[in-house]
Amino acid sequence: MANVFNCSVLELPKIHNRAGNITVLDHADSIIPFEIKRIYYLFDVPGGESRGGHAHKNLHQIIIAASGSFDVILDDGKIKRSIVLNRPNYGLYVPPGIWRDLENFSSGSVLLVMASENYDENDYIRDYEDYKIFKSR
Ligand code: TYD
Repeated sequence: MANVFNCSVLELPKIHNRAGNITVLDHADSIIPFEIKRIYYLFDVPGGESRGGHAHKNLHQIIIAASGSFDVILDDGKIKRSIVLNRPNYGLYVPPGIWRDLENFSSGSVLLVMASENYDENDYIRDYEDYKIFKSR
């Protein structure tokens, strides 16, 4: 079962010229350790609000600060790790089985997620006590 050290910040390719940057994730590249089935993004998170507060049973995700910054608090039931995301060309890989809280959103931030599966509420563990039972199996 994954632990917080299986979560890693991946540097994504950046094509730079004087008019700015572009990051491309091409299916052929293999930088992303899973096939992307779904993309979603969070925006307009009110100041002081937290999100996340769950784990996934099977879902792999890459979390990107497409704009602004926020903190991702990773928790494997034993160890917590806090990651600041604040550059659009870095992505945090989160494998299945990791509890995450999303905090400290800067004004105007956009949290982009690339996910390995379609949305499935049954894949979520939203209760921390249930999560601890899941991890002890
Ligand atoms: P959730 O994943 O709990 O958000 P966060 O991790 O940002 O706090 O999702 C919030 C709501 O949006 C929840 O009611 C389910 C819905 N939702 C979908 O319908 N489809 C999706 O792909 C996602 C990610 C969420």
